This record gives sequence, C-alpha cells and structure tokens, in this order.
Amino acid sequence: MDTPPAQVALAAAALKRGGLVIMPTETVYGLAADAGNPGAVAALYEAKGRPAFNPLISHVADQAAARRIARFDERAERLAAAFWPGPLTLVLPIADRAAVCDLARAGLDTVAVRAPGHPLAQALLRAFGGPLVAPSANRSGRPSPTTLADALEETGASAAAALDGGPCAVGLESTVIALLDAPRLLRPGAVTRAAIEAILGPLAEADDDARRSPGRLARHYAPHSPLRLEITAPAPGEAWLAFGPARAGERIWNLSPTGDLAEAAANLFAHLRAADRCGASAIAVAPIPREGLGEAINDRLRRAAGYVG
Ligand code: TXA
Ligand code: MG
Repeated sequence: MDTPPAQVALAAAALKRGGLVIMPTETVYGLAADAGNPGAVAALYEAKGRPAFNPLISHVADQAAARRIARFDERAERLAAAFWPGPLTLVLPIADRAAVCDLARAGLDTVAVRAPGHPLAQALLRAFGGPLVAPSANRSGRPSPTTLADALEETGASAAAALDGGPCAVGLESTVIALLDAPRLLRPGAVTRAAIEAILGPLAEADDDARRSPGRLARHYAPHSPLRLEITAPAPGEAWLAFGPARAGERIWNLSPTGDLAEAAANLFAHLRAADRCGASAIAVAPIPREGLGEAINDRLRRAAGYVG
C-alpha cells in the first residue's frame, strides 16, 4: 500500500491533461476528473454510462479549498468543522468563479462538495491543486467498488492512472446533506442522521424534487442477480448475505458475524459482488437493523433490489 509520491505526481499530471484517474477514498473508490475541464467531465460521464442530469461531487483538500467553489453559511461551517476530512458531502450554492464546470453540476446553481479523509485522496488533491469531481468508479447503476481490483474491473479501461489505497475503510458512499433551505438528508451514508442532528437539530425529509435531488434514482448499486431482502432462511440455490451469528457454508457471506454495522457497511458491496459471481439463482439478504449506519445500509439494499425510494 506504499504508494510512492511519484505515482501521485503522475496521476495529477494525467488529470491536468484531461485524463481520468481511479482514486481511493475512505468511502468507495472514485473515478476522478478535473472539475473545471468540461471535456474531461464529459469523458467521465461517458466512462460511467451516467445520465448527464446526475451531477457530481467536487472533492477538495480542506475547507479553505471548498470555500473557493461553494458559498458556506454557518451551518456548513459547523458540519465541515465536525466531519471533514471525512465521509460527508454538502450541497451548497455555487461560488462566483468556481472552477467547477456546468456539466459537472448538471447545470445546477449548486455544488456538492466534500473533503475526503483518505491520505491518498488528500495527496492527489494537493498535488493537483484544484477541485476533482469523482463519482464512484463503477459503471452507472452497479455496486460501488471498495477495492482497486473491483474499480479496475468496472472502469479501468477508461482510466489513465489508478492509485491503490487498499480496501475502503467505510465501504458506503458519503452522506449527502443539502443546505439550501432547511437542511435535508439527500443520501444517508457513513455519517449518521443522529450525528448530524446533534449539530443542526432535526433534518427535513428529502423530497423527490428531481431538481433538488437528481441522484435519487430508485434502482442503483445493482448486482446482476435478483436480490431478496429481509430473508432469515435462504431458499435452495440462493446465495445468502447473513448478518450476526449464522451458519457458515458455501454461498454464504456474512456481513458481520458479530452484528457490527460498521463492519457490515465495509463488507456490503464486496460481498454483493462475490455473491453475484457465484452463479446463484438469487441473492437473499438477512434483515439489517435500521438504526445508525443501518439506515444507509438498508437504503443501498433497497435500491439494489429495485424498490422505489
Ligand atoms: O463517497 C462518495 O461520495 C463517493 C466518493 C468517490 O467520494 N462519491 C460518490 O459520488 O458517491 P456519486 O457521483 O456516485 O454520487 C453523488 C451524489 C448523487 O446522488 C448526486 O445526485 C448527488 O450526489 N449530487 C451531486 N451534486 C448535487 C447537487 N448539486 N444537488 C443535489 N445532489 C447532488
Ligand atoms: Mg455512485
């Protein structure tokens, strides 16, 4: 995992030329491009097969860099102070002369911004010296990659460089909070609702206004095999994603034998991929508690299964 500074410098140079780079973050692997280069961002949408109305997160090294692209209010300052660098994305009004092109924002006058905590993401951002858009490095609609191997399998063919940061510690995408009017939770994630409400007070429910939350597609993060949720006893021929004490066996992957939600989040996408490869007729998933990180895990599972919302 010792990535020499030379590799980071080469990756930054590839980004300067408009190339795409596979970048580890603490949540999932991202496919990064220069946020200010519309040609690079167009190539990124193309590499992912992503609809161009779904805007991208701009990654920055720290709050000072974030302020060059987004207009911070007091709520944004408090959240950034509490959770950055880390798995929290803030949707804020775009700043004047921000180096984030229209295409990266899908034409919105807002920008999603986050400072990732992974040391290699930090090193790349500092070497590049500007904002990098980076969606998860999967093809659109597929599970997010949590290892370099999974990222290379999804979008490696489009990348000019790739950095190996080891398996992602969090394993689920960042929490997305809009701070445009009342604070809204657009995507549950690694920073829990309770942790944010402890700072801002109660969050408003996200609505289905496509303009405000364009990424809330129902089917998302999907494996090829059909997924059945809340299953305590898988049918013959099915793979099973267990949670908590459970029998071991062929075609059984345990998200966390001890029932630990952080461990389950870190294992979720890798286990989904493994179960998807084993040739089972379907993937059955054990019930996962809904509190804390369980909100984000259940959100990803419902989307992977194709349920609305
Ligand atoms: O953990 C993460 O956030 C990962 C890593 C690589 O940083 N990135 C990631 O990006 O999950 P992506 O593109 O897969 O998800 C971005 C989400 C989408 O749901 C998108 O709709 C939303 O953020 N988003 C981006 N810009 C927005 C904006 N201006 N307004 C509302 N939602 C926005
Ligand atoms: Mg994604």
